[in-house]
Amino acid sequence: MDQTNKGRLSVERIGFRYPGGQAVFQDFSFHAEPGEFVALLGPSGCGKSTLLNLLAGFHAPTHGTVLLDGAPVTPEMPQLGYVFQSPHLFPWLTARENVRFGLRMANDAHAAAQRARAQRYLDLVGLGAAGDRLPHELSGGMQQRVAIARALAMEPGLLLMDEPFSALDAITRASLNEELLRIWSTLGQTIVFITHDIDEAVFLADRVIVLGTAPRGIQAELEIDLPRPRTFHAARQLPRFGEYAATLMEHVASAMEAA
Ligand SMILES: Nc1ncnc2c1ncn2[C@@H]1O[C@H](COP(=O)(O)OP(=O)(O)OP(=O)(O)O)[C@@H](O)[C@H]1O
Ligand SMILES: [Mg+2]
Repeated sequence: MDQTNKGRLSVERIGFRYPGGQAVFQDFSFHAEPGEFVALLGPSGCGKSTLLNLLAGFHAPTHGTVLLDGAPVTPEMPQLGYVFQSPHLFPWLTARENVRFGLRMANDAHAAAQRARAQRYLDLVGLGAAGDRLPHELSGGMQQRVAIARALAMEPGLLLMDEPFSALDAITRASLNEELLRIWSTLGQTIVFITHDIDEAVFLADRVIVLGTAPRGIQAELEIDLPRPRTFHAARQLPRFGEYAATLMEHVASAMEAA
């Protein structure tokens, strides 16, 4: 799949508030280049999930624009994929049919071609043999991989992920982190990834953004210049890994103090 120049995200001076609430964003701007992996950190309640919902077009900004490849975002855009904190699978559909679901809705290709594509993405997340299983027959980590395959099967130029691995044990999380990087290096989507875990942000991202307490916007931004491909253990051995993590820890702490 050629993703060149797809997944360019431009957030231009947006504002947003929930009905009756304080402003969560005021004149907030943010950009991601095609194929860039951006991680978002920040104190609880600072607006990370709200931002992702604005990027997905689930919320409309009160002013300003969110553009994906030059067009205002809408949730129906086929070039947009979303992975939530919990997998949200349909319990009555097999893993393969869950992955195929979006393709059916988009009426994309014939049934046999849709199944073949669903199978390809299950293979990609290491679940090639589990296609006929129902969600309750899968572990939490496997279910989350099905949710990732479902988002990837639509071949989105922009993948939005809201703490997708936070409910998983450390070992599963580490292996899914590596798997996500492997898939991303193959498909080359733009990824915006929310996490509370500083090490996870450093390990995954090209750039980490720390959001301050609403509506202050971006508290700090850090380019992560670590070699790729990255593996969980080798990356953590690099002195720069610890330096990046320490710097981000300070920024997150000062964002919390300002809360
Ligand atoms: N549906 C809603 N209605 C009203 N206010 C909301 C709603 N959802 C979130 N908020 C408020 O908007 C602010 C930002 O919330 P948001 O969920 O984006 O934070 P977050 O950074 O994702 O936090 P966490 O790290 O805990 O997930 C908070 O003050 C929250 O109380
Ligand atoms: Mg959140």
